[in-house]
Amino acid sequence: MARILVTSALPYINGIKHLGNLVGSMLPADIYARFERQRGNDVLYICATDEHGTPAELAAREEGLEVDEYCRQQQQIQADIYRQFDLSFDHFGRSSSAENRELTQHFCRRLDDNGLIEERTTQQVYSKADQRYLPDRYIIGTCPHCQYEAARGDQCENCTRVLDPTDLLEPRSAISGSTDLELRETRHLFLLQSKLAGRLEKWIDQQTDWPILVTSIAKKWLKEGLHDRGITRDLSWGVPVDRKGFEDKVFYVWFDAPIEYIAATQEWANEEPEERDWRSWWYEADDVRYVQFMAKDNVPFHTISFPGTILGSGEPWKMVSYIKGFNWLTYYGGKFSTSRKRGVFMDRALEKFPADYWRYWLIANAPESDDTDFTFKFFAGGVNKDLADTFGNFVNRCWKFTQSRFDGVVPEGGQPGEAERQLAAVLDAKMAAYTAHLEEMRFRKALADLRAMWVLGNEYLTHAAPWKVIKEDPEQAAMMVRTGMQLIRLFAVLSWPVIPSTSLRVLEALGEKDEIPAWPSGSAVDDLQALAPGTPLGELGILFRKIPPEEQESLELEFGGESG
Ligand code: 2FM
Ligand code: ZN
Repeated sequence: MARILVTSALPYINGIKHLGNLVGSMLPADIYARFERQRGNDVLYICATDEHGTPAELAAREEGLEVDEYCRQQQQIQADIYRQFDLSFDHFGRSSSAENRELTQHFCRRLDDNGLIEERTTQQVYSKADQRYLPDRYIIGTCPHCQYEAARGDQCENCTRVLDPTDLLEPRSAISGSTDLELRETRHLFLLQSKLAGRLEKWIDQQTDWPILVTSIAKKWLKEGLHDRGITRDLSWGVPVDRKGFEDKVFYVWFDAPIEYIAATQEWANEEPEERDWRSWWYEADDVRYVQFMAKDNVPFHTISFPGTILGSGEPWKMVSYIKGFNWLTYYGGKFSTSRKRGVFMDRALEKFPADYWRYWLIANAPESDDTDFTFKFFAGGVNKDLADTFGNFVNRCWKFTQSRFDGVVPEGGQPGEAERQLAAVLDAKMAAYTAHLEEMRFRKALADLRAMWVLGNEYLTHAAPWKVIKEDPEQAAMMVRTGMQLIRLFAVLSWPVIPSTSLRVLEALGEKDEIPAWPSGSAVDDLQALAPGTPLGELGILFRKIPPEEQESLELEFGGESG
């Protein structure tokens, strides 16, 4: 049994996440975690809200709440939506936890002991109108690299370059819009990343199996030269800096957020200290494979900054084994945008369709090698064709026929023949490909394999035509229907990582109660015997409904389908 640690990028606390956030981190991580659990591996899937930094403060201000209360409320709202989306975290924590405060301060001390922290006097933007410093997102202006006009002080959303507030052209306050800004001197801690460059480069060079999307971003950063990085801010909300003269400062959110991966595991262990051991996952954990999921804008922080923190600590913390990065999901040709409320957000998505519809479509069209553009027409096309017409229809055909001609019981009798042997051979190959693609986290390919198996089921049934055969040879028809029911069971098991709720609904109707259906053997001859003849079929109903063109149009109107 392998031990696999899975983390997905921590969603910012401010606001409900959209489908782009979901497909770029949490959903693929969940699918991978579920798949590995089905194979009997020991999986720990950790996520949390990323609560510090300027986005949280700005959002709380907008809602008229204290920032800690705002975060408490939002964390529960997010956790609840993720539960409804069947995201199977072992723990969904909070970066504002006591565990993270301790650990963040610990890392800073270790880095300091190792000569990697330096106090420097810096010039920070100060707003006289707001009577405060304006770090990171408190300041907005034009990106000096791509001229995007709404770039934020920490990163340009458009070209993904990391920025310093003083880089922005025509800067203005995000709070008041004031341009009456000046530079003031203030002391900050700097992590001397330049001293870590050699070690980081060597480590990146060892990651020969990582996706090109990920290594190319890391290498580009290394090539441009690693700058020493300010890891503290003039803010009040965040992990306090335990150092003389820094009483009014906190750590930069991107310093403490990835440390929360470890701290959230401590939170998980602290819930049941007798049973759970966080150290075995993170400290001298050579037997653990650690996989991270994130969108491409997060890659620099996970390939350079966080590994730098770990390497610089000189302690044997777990380093990531594999990073799966994603391109963007766009919305009608433009960006999904939390600030402009553009796109489909997870709460609204669930009001319209069950989680499995979204999970299926998003992962089948995941922005892996390129961006994917969401439109309701594209979404409805996938749901209608793949879920309703292929998988749903296959289940429905077999189910109905068994009910009407075999008293709703998986029939006995008959011997598999050439058609079944051929079916098994093709299935063997498809199952092997599907398993390998999930293992490699090539989700679009995996989903193409799954769809191909569903198609195979329909083709088998159409060619076998038990409704005709039953007139001449009832035994033979029974064997065909039984094969169909075996296929349904097999498809439900194989689909569980992707559409867990539908999968369990089918398995329950077949009398199976396992919460995690075990992965099939991969030999179709055996896998098509798992269901015992005589098994009664429960009520199932229609698995997936179709989304007609009128509804696609009204969804477009409701959500705003114009390009932006
Ligand atoms: O980009 C984001 O949404 C960040 N909140 C991701 C943080 S990931 C981790 F490092 F905490
Ligand atoms: Zn830019």
